[in-house]
Amino acid sequence: MGKLMFLFFCLLSFTSISIALDCTQIPASEIYDSNTVNIPKKDGSLQTLPGNFNCVYNISTPTPASHGLYAIVTITNGLQGVNDYILVTKITGSQRKIVSAGNKVETYKVIPGSQLSVQVITKSVVMNSQFAISVQYHSVVIGPSVQMKTGWEMNYLDVKTINQGPFSSLTYVSKEHIVLTLATEALDISIYDNCYFIDGTFDNQRKIYEVDDFFYDDGSKFTTVSHHLTVVSFQENFIQIVLNPVSEVQQFSNFLSVRIVKAVTPFETVFNEAIQLVNFDSVGIVIDGFHIISKPCNAKVVSGPPNNSSKTILDLSTNPSKAQTFNVKDLTVISNGCFFHFTATASN
Ligand SMILES: *[C@@H]1O[C@H](CO)[C@@H](O)[C@H](O)[C@H]1NC(C)=O
Ligand SMILES: *[C@@H]1O[C@H](CO)[C@@H](O)[C@H](O)[C@H]1NC(C)=O
Ligand SMILES: *[C@@H]1O[C@H](CO)[C@@H](O)[C@H](O)[C@H]1NC(C)=O
Repeated sequence: MGKLMFLFFCLLSFTSISIALDCTQIPASEIYDSNTVNIPKKDGSLQTLPGNFNCVYNISTPTPASHGLYAIVTITNGLQGVNDYILVTKITGSQRKIVSAGNKVETYKVIPGSQLSVQVITKSVVMNSQFAISVQYHSVVIGPSVQMKTGWEMNYLDVKTINQGPFSSLTYVSKEHIVLTLATEALDISIYDNCYFIDGTFDNQRKIYEVDDFFYDDGSKFTTVSHHLTVVSFQENFIQIVLNPVSEVQQFSNFLSVRIVKAVTPFETVFNEAIQLVNFDSVGIVIDGFHIISKPCNAKVVSGPPNNSSKTILDLSTNPSKAQTFNVKDLTVISNGCFFHFTATASN
């Protein structure tokens, strides 16, 4: 009898908790500009979790036409049990596990037309773990589309130049797949979630990238599956990129882009390589410190990208010894089987 009573109370308490906490998603009617939605408790306070809890909260923003919504998601971590955790699947698809010893508050961004999910899991032992999720929606105007330049013109972008408010975007349209290379040094970037790159457009997203998804790769680059690339900036100030049609990149075993500044940047070429140099802040690039290791040297400098309509501005088989100043914003050093050293500096 006592056992039955106990079972009855267990069932009762289990039912009442699961009624309070039934993985309720954000209703569509709550997704509008300037609205803040708190889950699971409406007042935003921490929810205490029962044992064996497992819920996925999907937080998505509608696919925009000319206007869209983005969301700022704040997760408050009140986990107590060492085996309890919150698994966040970011809009890029990468996952982050929040545990009791982790940050007490984490924020994430959900760009228009994307989804973040938060899975909250407790084990059988009730540790009084708690959590809260707050979602703030903001409306935005989707930025313009531009045709990627072709031929001898390089497509580079200092992301801060598109900033127009808390959210800005620019979509490139190409006849080919697009290779994005980061021209910023990894050291210069400390915050990753102010800038997103969409392989595609807002309403046809193939994949979303954050800088740390590709900057440790050889050459800090990725190639789109679609013929569109969309840059999204939340007032990003540090990131510079270069875009090329894939045909320009495929000819090389190594391909990179580097931002040239007043301080000297040293380079060593490899066998078959293109190094795109961009002076984002001004005009003028000085190349100096030539040290050619393999002679004769089949290498050259062209203005613009490594395209066959770009003009050759220096032939390295001439074995230059003096510093060369080029009155351009961007150029490419191309090595076709020549090993050499050089330095580059912004002349202005
Ligand atoms: C959450 O999103 C995932 C992936 O799109 C989907 O498989 C799942 O059914 C969604 N869950 C809910 C509760 O809507
Ligand atoms: C050069 O530019 C033209 C025009 O954009 C393009 O068709 C071609 O594939 C590019 N690639 C190379 C390697 O020159
Ligand atoms: C330019 O390069 C492309 C791709 O490598 C090639 O198909 C085309 O024939 C080249 N054009 C000229 C004029 O060399």
